[in-house]
Amino acid sequence: MTRDIASTSAGSASLSQEELFRRINALKKEMNALVLAHYYTVPEIQQVADIVGDSLALARAAEKTNADVIVFAGVYFMAETAKILNPEKLVLMPDDRAGCPLADSCPEEEFRRFKAEHPDALVITYINSTAEIKALTDITCTSSNAEEIIRQIPENRQIIFGPDRNLGAYLAKKLGREMILWQGCCYVHDDFSEANILEACREHPDAELIAHPECRQEVLRHASFIGSTKALLDYTVTSSAETFLVATEPGILYEMQKRSPLKTFLSAPKEPGNPRTLCTQMKQNTLEKLYHCMLDRKPEILVDEALRLASLGSIQRMLEMSPA
Ligand code: 13P
Ligand code: SF4
Repeated sequence: MTRDIASTSAGSASLSQEELFRRINALKKEMNALVLAHYYTVPEIQQVADIVGDSLALARAAEKTNADVIVFAGVYFMAETAKILNPEKLVLMPDDRAGCPLADSCPEEEFRRFKAEHPDALVITYINSTAEIKALTDITCTSSNAEEIIRQIPENRQIIFGPDRNLGAYLAKKLGREMILWQGCCYVHDDFSEANILEACREHPDAELIAHPECRQEVLRHASFIGSTKALLDYTVTSSAETFLVATEPGILYEMQKRSPLKTFLSAPKEPGNPRTLCTQMKQNTLEKLYHCMLDRKPEILVDEALRLASLGSIQRMLEMSPA
């Protein structure tokens, strides 16, 4: 690293975006670091990242990388998953207080009791869960591969699915199989209301409504396409529609617009005055914090080794059951 790149984090508060890009890129080389960013992060984080993806693509990238350092601009469970897969690597987060209310909606002890009530059921949980929940899980999944994974489970096997009740209900209906659902959710998708969505559809009659399966059933039933963040993105490229009403976290609009510059993307509205439109946790990843975490090599994500080993199997099973 050339010494004109600050060797301490002091005095960098007013660096321009360009200068931060330059320093982050230099640190990437010096540290042999891979910067991963979720589609819900702010555009400048997506611009500087090596890989931008949904939770499945980022877990796969973390599994495959030869980098010495993984810098995860996402929320805590994502960086934790990267560490579980890479105990020998340094895993950093720009802000390790970026949690996930969906993961928090499934406390370990309550889930353990829930599981004990259905001792014969196979446990499938969404990657948006803590390492403790993954340790109680047979197979982890994401919204991109949940369907593919559940289809591989024999029809007569009972399934517990958690923590997202909306994704669980959507899958149960789509696959025509009953599942025992944990009743968790996240405000980012759960707050979309049918009335507001229908009003927006009336205002924009030419727009195609597309939605993430974490939205409620009464919203999903009006969507012409339902899919994970990545599936929604791919759909906007191939669909002949020119305007889309997008019922998911608005961060993805940046990549949608980049891939289809001539199309129009509208964020589906929430109740007037509802400030809970954004995944505020993802937005805690700023360029400044990204730079500082690389420079200071902290905050580092650590996972207790016994917990890591207990949770690793469910993630590995997911990766085996849905090869890239
Ligand atoms: P994806 O699996 O589509 O990346 O979704 C992650 C997420 O947290 C949605 O709320
Ligand atoms: Fe978690 Fe909700 Fe953000 Fe998804 S949108 S990462 S579920 S807080």
